[in-house]
Amino acid sequence: MISITPRMLRKNEQMPYGLLLLADEEMQAIERYIHQSDIYVIEAGDKIVGVCAVYTIDEHTAEIKAIAVDEAYQNQGIGKLMLKDAEDKAREKGFNELIIGTPTIAWKQISIYQKAGFELYEVKKDFFINYYTQQIFEDSVQLTDMVMLRKKLRNPS
Ligand code: ACO
Repeated sequence: MISITPRMLRKNEQMPYGLLLLADEEMQAIERYIHQSDIYVIEAGDKIVGVCAVYTIDEHTAEIKAIAVDEAYQNQGIGKLMLKDAEDKAREKGFNELIIGTPTIAWKQISIYQKAGFELYEVKKDFFINYYTQQIFEDSVQLTDMVMLRKKLRNPS
Protein backbone atom coordinates (compact mmCIF):
# COMPACT_ATOMS: atom_id res chain seq x y z
CA MET A 1 0.00 0.00 0.00
CA ILE A 2 1.26 3.51 -0.82
CA SER A 3 1.56 5.91 2.13
CA ILE A 4 -0.58 8.96 1.49
CA THR A 5 1.47 11.38 3.54
CA PRO A 6 5.13 11.96 2.86
CA ARG A 7 7.29 11.59 5.97
CA MET A 8 10.67 13.02 6.77
CA LEU A 9 13.61 10.65 6.30
CA ARG A 10 15.19 9.84 9.65
CA LYS A 11 18.86 10.61 10.28
CA ASN A 12 19.74 6.91 10.66
CA GLU A 13 18.06 5.87 7.40
CA GLN A 14 19.87 5.36 4.12
CA MET A 15 19.61 8.23 1.69
CA PRO A 16 17.58 7.06 -1.36
CA TYR A 17 20.39 7.91 -3.79
CA GLY A 18 18.97 5.65 -6.51
CA LEU A 19 15.82 7.77 -6.65
CA LEU A 20 17.68 11.06 -6.28
CA LEU A 21 19.82 10.14 -9.28
CA LEU A 22 16.65 10.03 -11.40
CA ALA A 23 16.22 13.74 -10.67
CA ASP A 24 19.86 14.84 -10.61
CA GLU A 25 22.30 12.88 -12.73
CA GLU A 26 25.49 13.53 -10.78
CA MET A 27 26.34 12.41 -7.23
CA GLN A 28 28.69 15.37 -6.73
CA ALA A 29 25.83 17.75 -7.50
CA ILE A 30 23.51 15.90 -5.09
CA GLU A 31 26.12 15.97 -2.33
CA ARG A 32 26.27 19.78 -2.54
CA TYR A 33 22.75 20.15 -1.12
CA ILE A 34 21.41 16.86 0.16
CA HIS A 35 22.84 16.94 3.70
CA GLN A 36 21.47 20.45 4.29
CA SER A 37 18.01 19.57 2.92
CA ASP A 38 14.82 18.25 4.49
CA ILE A 39 14.19 14.90 2.81
CA TYR A 40 10.57 13.79 2.47
CA VAL A 41 9.73 10.29 1.28
CA ILE A 42 6.69 8.32 0.17
CA GLU A 43 6.56 4.59 0.77
CA ALA A 44 4.84 1.61 -0.80
CA GLY A 45 5.01 -1.05 1.91
CA ASP A 46 8.55 -0.80 3.23
CA LYS A 47 9.98 0.51 -0.06
CA ILE A 48 10.69 4.20 -0.60
CA VAL A 49 9.13 5.06 -3.98
CA GLY A 50 9.22 8.86 -3.90
CA VAL A 51 11.62 11.48 -2.61
CA CYS A 52 11.60 15.24 -2.38
CA ALA A 53 14.58 17.28 -1.08
CA VAL A 54 13.84 20.81 0.11
CA TYR A 55 16.69 23.25 0.77
CA THR A 56 16.57 26.60 2.53
CA ILE A 57 17.93 29.40 0.33
CA ASP A 58 17.23 32.18 2.84
CA GLU A 59 14.47 33.22 5.26
CA HIS A 60 12.09 33.96 2.36
CA THR A 61 12.80 31.18 -0.08
CA ALA A 62 12.96 27.39 -0.05
CA GLU A 63 13.96 25.34 -3.10
CA ILE A 64 12.92 21.86 -4.16
CA LYS A 65 16.36 20.64 -5.20
CA ALA A 66 15.21 17.18 -6.25
CA ILE A 67 11.93 15.36 -6.69
CA ALA A 68 11.67 11.84 -8.04
CA VAL A 69 9.30 8.90 -8.17
CA ASP A 70 10.33 5.29 -8.81
CA GLU A 71 9.65 4.55 -12.49
CA ALA A 72 7.17 1.78 -11.64
CA TYR A 73 5.11 4.25 -9.59
CA GLN A 74 5.21 7.29 -11.89
CA ASN A 75 2.09 8.86 -13.36
CA GLN A 76 -0.08 7.82 -10.38
CA GLY A 77 -0.20 11.21 -8.68
CA ILE A 78 2.73 10.74 -6.29
CA GLY A 79 4.80 13.59 -7.75
CA LYS A 80 1.85 15.94 -7.49
CA LEU A 81 1.22 14.88 -3.90
CA MET A 82 4.88 15.47 -2.94
CA LEU A 83 4.86 18.92 -4.61
CA LYS A 84 1.76 19.89 -2.64
CA ASP A 85 3.25 18.55 0.59
CA ALA A 86 6.52 20.49 0.05
CA GLU A 87 4.47 23.61 -0.60
CA ASP A 88 2.38 23.14 2.58
CA LYS A 89 5.48 22.49 4.71
CA ALA A 90 7.30 25.54 3.28
CA ARG A 91 4.25 27.71 3.97
CA GLU A 92 4.00 26.37 7.56
CA LYS A 93 7.68 27.18 8.07
CA GLY A 94 7.03 30.79 7.06
CA PHE A 95 8.71 30.89 3.63
CA ASN A 96 7.26 33.38 1.13
CA GLU A 97 8.08 31.38 -1.97
CA LEU A 98 9.06 27.92 -3.15
CA ILE A 99 11.29 27.59 -6.19
CA ILE A 100 12.30 24.69 -8.42
CA GLY A 101 14.68 24.34 -11.35
CA THR A 102 14.74 21.88 -14.23
CA PRO A 103 16.47 21.61 -17.62
CA THR A 104 14.90 23.87 -20.26
CA ILE A 105 14.28 20.78 -22.40
CA ALA A 106 12.34 18.95 -19.62
CA TRP A 107 8.88 19.71 -21.02
CA LYS A 108 7.04 17.10 -18.96
CA GLN A 109 8.51 18.33 -15.67
CA ILE A 110 7.93 22.00 -16.57
CA SER A 111 4.27 21.25 -17.34
CA ILE A 112 3.82 19.33 -14.06
CA TYR A 113 5.22 22.29 -12.10
CA GLN A 114 3.10 24.78 -14.04
CA LYS A 115 -0.03 22.72 -13.38
CA ALA A 116 0.90 22.88 -9.68
CA GLY A 117 0.92 26.69 -9.88
CA PHE A 118 4.63 27.41 -10.41
CA GLU A 119 5.57 30.20 -12.84
CA LEU A 120 8.73 30.61 -14.91
CA TYR A 121 10.93 33.51 -13.80
CA GLU A 122 14.52 32.90 -14.91
CA VAL A 123 16.74 30.87 -17.19
CA LYS A 124 20.20 30.04 -15.78
CA LYS A 125 22.34 29.91 -18.92
CA ASP A 126 24.87 27.07 -19.11
CA PHE A 127 24.01 25.83 -15.61
CA PHE A 128 24.57 22.18 -16.52
CA ILE A 129 27.90 23.00 -18.14
CA ASN A 130 29.24 25.16 -15.32
CA TYR A 131 28.12 23.14 -12.29
CA TYR A 132 28.54 19.55 -13.49
CA THR A 133 31.80 17.72 -14.14
CA GLN A 134 30.44 15.67 -17.07
CA GLN A 135 28.27 16.55 -20.02
CA ILE A 136 24.71 15.33 -19.42
CA PHE A 137 22.45 14.11 -22.22
CA GLU A 138 18.73 13.45 -22.21
CA ASP A 139 17.31 11.79 -25.34
CA SER A 140 20.61 12.62 -27.08
CA VAL A 141 20.27 16.35 -26.32
CA GLN A 142 22.96 17.91 -24.14
CA LEU A 143 21.60 19.72 -21.09
CA THR A 144 22.83 23.31 -20.94
CA ASP A 145 20.36 25.77 -19.42
CA MET A 146 18.12 25.46 -16.36
CA VAL A 147 14.73 27.11 -16.12
CA MET A 148 13.64 28.32 -12.69
CA LEU A 149 10.00 28.37 -11.58
CA ARG A 150 8.49 29.78 -8.43
CA LYS A 151 5.28 29.65 -6.46
CA LYS A 152 4.32 32.46 -4.11
CA LEU A 153 3.14 31.00 -0.80
CA ARG A 154 1.36 34.02 0.62
CA ASN A 155 -0.29 37.14 -0.68
CA PRO A 156 1.77 40.33 -0.47
CA SER A 157 0.48 42.43 2.45
N1 ACO B 1 3.74 13.72 -20.00
C1 ACO B 1 2.94 14.76 -19.67
N2 ACO B 1 2.30 14.86 -18.48
C2 ACO B 1 2.48 13.87 -17.58
C3 ACO B 1 3.29 12.76 -17.86
C4 ACO B 1 3.92 12.69 -19.14
N3 ACO B 1 4.71 11.66 -19.49
N4 ACO B 1 3.30 11.95 -16.77
C5 ACO B 1 2.50 12.54 -15.87
N5 ACO B 1 2.00 13.68 -16.36
C6 ACO B 1 1.09 14.58 -15.69
C7 ACO B 1 0.01 13.86 -14.96
O1 ACO B 1 -1.08 13.57 -15.82
C8 ACO B 1 -0.36 14.86 -13.90
O2 ACO B 1 -1.17 15.87 -14.47
P1 ACO B 1 -2.69 16.08 -13.98
O3 ACO B 1 -2.54 16.81 -12.68
O4 ACO B 1 -3.27 16.93 -15.03
O5 ACO B 1 -3.28 14.74 -13.84
C9 ACO B 1 0.96 15.52 -13.55
O6 ACO B 1 1.81 15.27 -14.70
C10 ACO B 1 1.59 14.98 -12.30
O7 ACO B 1 1.69 13.60 -12.44
P2 ACO B 1 2.15 12.65 -11.25
O8 ACO B 1 1.61 11.29 -11.51
O9 ACO B 1 1.87 13.27 -9.93
O10 ACO B 1 3.72 12.66 -11.47
P3 ACO B 1 4.76 11.52 -11.05
O11 ACO B 1 4.33 10.80 -9.83
O12 ACO B 1 5.10 10.70 -12.23
O13 ACO B 1 6.03 12.42 -10.66
C11 ACO B 1 8.08 13.26 -11.54
C12 ACO B 1 6.55 13.37 -11.53
C13 ACO B 1 8.61 13.48 -10.13
C14 ACO B 1 8.66 14.33 -12.46
C15 ACO B 1 8.44 11.82 -12.03
O14 ACO B 1 7.98 11.65 -13.34
C16 ACO B 1 9.93 11.52 -11.97
O15 ACO B 1 10.44 11.07 -10.95
N6 ACO B 1 10.66 11.72 -13.10
C17 ACO B 1 12.08 11.39 -13.17
C18 ACO B 1 12.91 12.32 -12.29
C19 ACO B 1 12.70 13.78 -12.63
O16 ACO B 1 12.70 14.18 -13.79
N7 ACO B 1 12.56 14.61 -11.58
C20 ACO B 1 12.43 16.06 -11.70
C21 ACO B 1 13.73 16.70 -12.03
S1 ACO B 1 13.81 18.43 -11.63
C22 ACO B 1 14.03 18.45 -9.96
O17 ACO B 1 14.17 17.43 -9.34
C23 ACO B 1 14.06 19.75 -9.22
